[in-house]
Amino acid sequence: MDATAKFWEKVADRYAKQPVADEQSYQTKLAKTREYLTPDSTVLEFGCGTGTTAITHAPYVKHIHAIDIADNMLQYGREKAAKANVSNISFEQATIEEFQAPASSFDMVLGLSILHLLRDPQTAINKVFTLLKPGGVFVSSTVCIDERQRYLKYILPIMKLLGKAPFVQSFKVADVERLLTQAGFTIDHHWLPGKGTVVFLIAKKPL
Ligand SMILES: C[S@@+](CC[C@H](N)C(=O)[O-])C[C@H]1O[C@@H](n2cnc3c(N)ncnc32)[C@H](O)[C@@H]1O
Repeated sequence: MDATAKFWEKVADRYAKQPVADEQSYQTKLAKTREYLTPDSTVLEFGCGTGTTAITHAPYVKHIHAIDIADNMLQYGREKAAKANVSNISFEQATIEEFQAPASSFDMVLGLSILHLLRDPQTAINKVFTLLKPGGVFVSSTVCIDERQRYLKYILPIMKLLGKAPFVQSFKVADVERLLTQAGFTIDHHWLPGKGTVVFLIAKKPL
């Protein structure tokens, strides 16, 4: 198994028990995302973790395809969806890099707390652009350690060597915006919740 999958499989039980770090910001992101959803929406979420966000949005859309690299994260998602009587989410073990679907398949793609974890975020964002229908949106929430937590740039690689942290990009907010605009997106909504180390962006694929 690939080292990234191994890391996330190892932390899945702990991750599943953790409460949302900033509940108020999380609720604001959910509400803003919902403004872009309709009962006909077909959604892809990559790096869906234990499925909390997908399960929350499911009653407002047609279908959500939720993918994650870690099979045990998905197992939590499947169990939580069944408990919530949600039947319009399909969970699949896949990375965003290897995921296959025809171009223009989705009205929305969700990538929450994930872009900073990818080795090649530009390729992933380009792929998201292709997967979206014209007029579709990419909703992302991305940690930018190069804004206010620059010390993490030095600590995280050591923690990674010890198996205590995943690979993390040293993003500034402007870096994430540039990756999106380089892929062809226009930024429709920009929000810096909390202390400004996370950027929440809704990027639109032009019609
Ligand atoms: C920080 S968690 C975020 C989970 C969820 N999106 C949330 O906001 O709580 C990152 C998730 O991405 C998954 N992941 C990491 N690299 C991935 C990749 N290349 N493709 C798909 N999923 C990935 C991990 O297994 C983990 O569940």
